[in-house]
Amino acid sequence: MTFTGRHFLKELDFTVAEWNSLLELSAELKAAKKERRQQPLLAGMNIALVFEKTSTRTRCAFEVAAHDMGAHATYLDPSGSQLGHKESVADTAAVLGRYFEGIQYRGFDQSVVEELAAHAGVPVWNGLTDQWHPTQALCDMLTIREHATRPLDEVAIAYVGDARSNVGNSVLVGSAMMGLDVRMVSPGPLQNSAEVVESARAVAAETGARVTVTDDLAAVEGADFVYTDIWVSMGEPKEIWAERIELLRDYQVNADLMARTGRADAKFLHCLPAFHDRRTTIGEQIFTEFGLDGIEVTDEVFGSPASVVFDQAENRMHTIKAVMVATLT
Ligand code: CP
Ligand code: NVA
Repeated sequence: MTFTGRHFLKELDFTVAEWNSLLELSAELKAAKKERRQQPLLAGMNIALVFEKTSTRTRCAFEVAAHDMGAHATYLDPSGSQLGHKESVADTAAVLGRYFEGIQYRGFDQSVVEELAAHAGVPVWNGLTDQWHPTQALCDMLTIREHATRPLDEVAIAYVGDARSNVGNSVLVGSAMMGLDVRMVSPGPLQNSAEVVESARAVAAETGARVTVTDDLAAVEGADFVYTDIWVSMGEPKEIWAERIELLRDYQVNADLMARTGRADAKFLHCLPAFHDRRTTIGEQIFTEFGLDGIEVTDEVFGSPASVVFDQAENRMHTIKAVMVATLT
């Protein structure tokens, strides 16, 4: 299966077979690194990392993966380039495409990464937009493969919280591609759009996945994995916190909710960063204003043996490496 020269913009651009092949490559590159037998498959190449929003994992994962493969990475921070204010996306893409073999882009509307891809002449990788976070979903599915205690066609995942976020959309479609029983559990205003649900159902028809969209927390019953993300995403105004907390207070992932899965081996997933205590500026502000100690997840669940969030964070690097190797070689 060849991906050479392809972009990586959203899950739906790939067939189920292609998606699974990227997971296989991720697992192989992970094993190669652990066994100290990795090869510099991208030797002499240069990649650009363009960020219009902040990042810890995605940036570091790309940089380390590039270095592991013998490539050099150049980071452009959210204020460090002319993009958007002094130079159009199309012109920037054309310029970067002359220097770099591949471009990672994190930004706002999906249309921007699509435009960048249309003009770059080299593979463009979506490192998060308002609508999709496909490198996250690839990592999440590798993590589920590693931690599942049943065959994948028996595995259920409940995504609880702000389901219509980039991560919610990507987890829904990524899970459908893996043939999972995926339940998106969220109050009505925060459910995935009809268009996203329809595309996930179309994938499910092919893979045997089951797709449930509900506001009923009973949907976590029997889930092997419980996944959540922050309640207010990058790019949303901070004034929206009060409204979001009102909508989502009952959807916090806490010990009671984990117990509702009825599975002693249920695992907790989170893309990170997470608000699980008061040791962040926002965490402290939310505690002072709304009395929530831990927002989308309690510290108890985050730090429990059920939590595999740091295995998941590690997998960002192995899966991003696979995306680069697949599209550049
Ligand atoms: N999960 C994730 O994308 O993290 P960063 O925002 O730190 O890159
Ligand atoms: N939904 C979050 C994901 C962060 C990795 C955001 O967009 O801020």
